[in-house]
Amino acid sequence: MQKGEMLANGKAKSVYKTDEPKKLIMHFRNDTSAFDGEKIEQLDRKGMVNNKFNAFIMQRLEEGGIPTHFEKVISEDESVVKNLDMLPIECVVRNISTGSLCKRLGVAEGLDLEPPLFEFFLKNDELHDPMINDFHIISFKWATQDEIEKMKELTFKVNDILKKLFLDAGIILVDYKLEFGRYDGKLLLGDEFSPDGCRLWDVNTREKLDKDRFRQGLGGVVEAYEAVAERLGIAI
Ligand code: CDP
Repeated sequence: MQKGEMLANGKAKSVYKTDEPKKLIMHFRNDTSAFDGEKIEQLDRKGMVNNKFNAFIMQRLEEGGIPTHFEKVISEDESVVKNLDMLPIECVVRNISTGSLCKRLGVAEGLDLEPPLFEFFLKNDELHDPMINDFHIISFKWATQDEIEKMKELTFKVNDILKKLFLDAGIILVDYKLEFGRYDGKLLLGDEFSPDGCRLWDVNTREKLDKDRFRQGLGGVVEAYEAVAERLGIAI
């Protein structure tokens, strides 16, 4: 497979065309950003760790019946994925209250959310990813009603699979963000699943093992990602 021109350059990943129109190469960079791109730093090894982390999780999700864009790892920090028509929507599920939820609603941190919460956000950094609901999505034609239902169904199914996977490794899946796209008339899970886009706490100490370490300047960011990978049995 030949790597072609760059199609998109996001905050932490770049996407390249290939000689196969339906396939892309996703390059996980070391760039780490927070606060809608206001804070950006290079973190050694992060691209490589996230590439392997994402591959492992996407494979577990496929085995659990979630259709994803992931095809295969082709280098330390690159994977081949299907070329999706991405929806401009972020799907967030929360098992424990923290982050923007607490700021927005004034609720306490660390509450168990039962049943888990589901929220839609518009993917737009300039507007700071505003929260939206089903009606915005339909009126502005960002997705169809069927796609809304599918996003909810798949995002909760991901929660069932990953909550258990992490808990078996002594880690609480606090919350996470997913993005979906269209491919041959079907909705597939796109983007990535790594500690950049979820919150992971040690089950005993509640130590943060995710990008909050970067947001909060706690240090040991990639070391924490690697510790999670090791506990999950991912070879880095
Ligand atoms: O992270 P922040 O407090 O700004 O937002 P949140 O709404 O509490 O984020 C919920 C979950 O989605 C966290 O695991 C975030 O890491 C993730 N997220 C993300 O990956 N990308 C975004 N643009 C927004 C949230």
